[in-house]
Amino acid sequence: MDNLESILSENRVFSPAPEFSERARIGSRAAFDELVAEAERDFEGFWARLAREFVTWDTPFTQTLDDSNAPFFKWFADGKLNVSANCIDRHLPAKADKTAIIGESDDGSVTHISYQELHDRVAKFANALKAQGIEKGDRVVIYLPMIPDATVAMLACARIGAIHSVVFGGFSAEALRDRINDTEAKLVITADGNMRGGKKVILKGQVDKALEHGCPSVEAVIMLEHIGGVATGTSSVKELTWAEAIDGQPAECEPVMVEAEHPLFILYTSGSTGKPKGIVHSSGGYLVNAAMTSSWVFDLNDDDVYWCTADVGWITGHTYVTYGPLALGVTQVIFEGVPTYPDGGRFWDMVERHKVSVFYTAPTAIRALMKLGDEVPNKYDLSSLRLLGTVGEPINPEAWVWYHQVIGGGRCPITDTWWQTETGAHAIAPIPGAIDLVPGSCTLPLPGIIADVVDDHGHSVPTESGGNLVIKKPWPSMLRTIWGDDERFQRTYFPDNLPGYYLAGDSARRDQDGYIWIMGRIDDVINVSGHRLGTMEVESALVAHPEVAEAAVVGRPHDVKGESIVAFVVVKGDRPQGEAAEAMVKTLRDWVAEQIGPIAKPEEIRFGDNLPKTRSGKIMRRLLRGIAKGEPPEGDTSTLENPAILEQLMGND
Ligand code: WTA
Repeated sequence: MDNLESILSENRVFSPAPEFSERARIGSRAAFDELVAEAERDFEGFWARLAREFVTWDTPFTQTLDDSNAPFFKWFADGKLNVSANCIDRHLPAKADKTAIIGESDDGSVTHISYQELHDRVAKFANALKAQGIEKGDRVVIYLPMIPDATVAMLACARIGAIHSVVFGGFSAEALRDRINDTEAKLVITADGNMRGGKKVILKGQVDKALEHGCPSVEAVIMLEHIGGVATGTSSVKELTWAEAIDGQPAECEPVMVEAEHPLFILYTSGSTGKPKGIVHSSGGYLVNAAMTSSWVFDLNDDDVYWCTADVGWITGHTYVTYGPLALGVTQVIFEGVPTYPDGGRFWDMVERHKVSVFYTAPTAIRALMKLGDEVPNKYDLSSLRLLGTVGEPINPEAWVWYHQVIGGGRCPITDTWWQTETGAHAIAPIPGAIDLVPGSCTLPLPGIIADVVDDHGHSVPTESGGNLVIKKPWPSMLRTIWGDDERFQRTYFPDNLPGYYLAGDSARRDQDGYIWIMGRIDDVINVSGHRLGTMEVESALVAHPEVAEAAVVGRPHDVKGESIVAFVVVKGDRPQGEAAEAMVKTLRDWVAEQIGPIAKPEEIRFGDNLPKTRSGKIMRRLLRGIAKGEPPEGDTSTLENPAILEQLMGND
């Protein structure tokens, strides 16, 4: 990666400001070290203490960790709880009138939802789900825009022990259908559509299409009338509007107490092989880390106004919109729109208007907004901010420093949080009142997370050497399995060459201070604007087109998105050139958008008579990555079956 060089040379240190540390939950390096030592002394005791501190249990657990069937670990297994009761009921009546959610729509209209109102909405909707025959353990797919109702739908599932699977609203009908079928969902919750950047996006049509293509498990669809003007009753199953579904339902719904290991949700993410993996998270362990990290890493207090810009379709929206902040009873902003509408000041205008104090976003957004110039944020009063966070990809020091100076006014710590769909919650991140910050490093593992950088045999590599990022001991919010595929779970995350360590799939190095620097994925995953996409997934979509014979996809560094997708395609028949090539590029980009979603559209498509392969037929992606960057092929090309193809793909013939 291009920005890696600047990351590697960065060594400025930003120590926590005394004013921040004084009121922070963990306010010194000594306090942090003591937590690390506590986890080392008594690993299970440490997690048991936190599980009691952060979660209200209906039946207290007596056993903390059951590792008898590793890597299928169980946490707090004989305890029972309800996650929605932890996020809502336990704050009542004390916080009945406190705002839980400030919802802002694309056009700027604002709604405040108090904890009591959230309770009532969730209870009614949970009753509506029950009325549709949804029971504990049933799967429900949620395909909604980034609106408070998405959180309501998630919490309503949790309330009755149904397992939700949120599908990002930007995914296509095909992607939606695959997820519905893999989970065998009984019900789909959607909206007619939503507004983003002043434009209408129709969601319901995608649901109709998905069902048309065959989703035998689905019995009903509930559609929220959000933008209006979209016909209902158009799909092949029973349909209700949200309003019809909750009509006459009481605002009380007894939460179903579930075992700690009961799955709370399934969330799909990309990996090395074609099919996205349904990552399964537990109820108890997941909530412990969600709440604990929200408290420690974001230092959230009762008077904070917190805003995480992630969509609920991603893990960040699960842990740091729905579950973590609500478990702590804070006030948060949920925003339906985009950062550049009506103009590039939208985020900062919202920070000013809602007096946001803790703000969490992705490096790609920071880089895009940085490009618009300092004068945009400088127009707004950002003095309410006290802490900033980033997630999703490495942040280059230039963007880090801009975020720190221009947005944070030099006074806000930046917490660069490394974690994954699979880890459930932050795993490596600076605790802001305690840890010195170095731009570009996610700093130190959180207490209780035993992370290391190892070689392919599991031995720690020397300081400053690159290696595999692993977590050596289980932690409560770790994924439990891949839905329906225990074997793939084991093979992917606990490979035989490592002695029982969790393999994250990232490469990293550790510096002299023990700080961790993430270098990028070691598998075939491309990180576009913080969204994980598997090269195989995009390749499968391309070759599914009737005119495509073969395709290879690689990532290329991009100064705003982090990485972008470049596809090398061999078509059936003659290689298209000139206008025919342009037309084919458009066709294939639209095709990929339809197969997966617009985020997976290749930025560039090049055509070749074939692809560079070894004599054993393996595509040499290393060479393609170089060509995509416009660099002449380096390293050994002598094993190539067809060296002449390189010139063609570089555009030199
Ligand atoms: C990358 C997102 C560097 C990493 C929460 C990881 C990061 C993948 C960071 C997970 C960070 C996430 N610094 N890289 N702070 N945070 N990543 O599952 O490659 O969508 O493996 O979860 O994003 O992406 P996922």
